[in-house]
Amino acid sequence: MNIPIILGTGRVARESEKVARFVLTRTSKQGLDSPFIDVNDFATPVTVSSWEDHELVTKWQEVVTTADGFILVVPEYNHSYPGELKILLDKAKDEYQGKPIGVVAVSSGGLGGARVVESLLPVWNTLGLHHVNQPVYVSHVKELFDDNGEIAPEKESDLTLRVDKLIEEVKNYIAI
Ligand SMILES: Cc1cc2nc3c(=O)[nH]c(=O)nc-3n(C[C@H](O)[C@H](O)[C@H](O)COP(=O)(O)O)c2cc1C
Repeated sequence: MNIPIILGTGRVARESEKVARFVLTRTSKQGLDSPFIDVNDFATPVTVSSWEDHELVTKWQEVVTTADGFILVVPEYNHSYPGELKILLDKAKDEYQGKPIGVVAVSSGGLGGARVVESLLPVWNTLGLHHVNQPVYVSHVKELFDDNGEIAPEKESDLTLRVDKLIEEVKNYIAI
């Protein structure tokens, strides 16, 4: 199964990258060779629509077409998602149809990015993505990982359990 991990923010010093790299270690543990997709590698300053002739559109559509499902790691910015994520998502359309997406939401506060998940649901509906209904909410991210991206040992097993469950749910949906 091809389940890319998408890091949905391009912000300098993004904490979400540590979470995304952690998720990557878990997909790897489950025997998946998941591509790591950084939104910055597809960045355009403005929207380039899915029907335009642009190399980053083609490159993104290739990622989506060859994927069986996705795991998105995304921070909450002002109760919503980063603009660069939306610009990325809008580079494809029909290619998403029927594929599952699991969300790992990240915040420095205590709500674990609950509102970014809510704000993404209409986008998933429009793109035809199947939202896996057990998001992982990562609260207080700055206390969860150290500067090197190492997870606090006392918190590792809890996050591992929750991330593994999400990966399982994406895999199960693909297997149907
Ligand atoms: C522009 C911006 C808006 C933010 N808005 C929220 C918010 O609405 N709710 C929240 O819990 N955290 C918010 N945060 C803090 C993030 O949760 C925090 O930066 C966290 O580390 C995850 O984002 P990062 O991957 O960019 O580091 C915001 C951060 C930025 C940069």
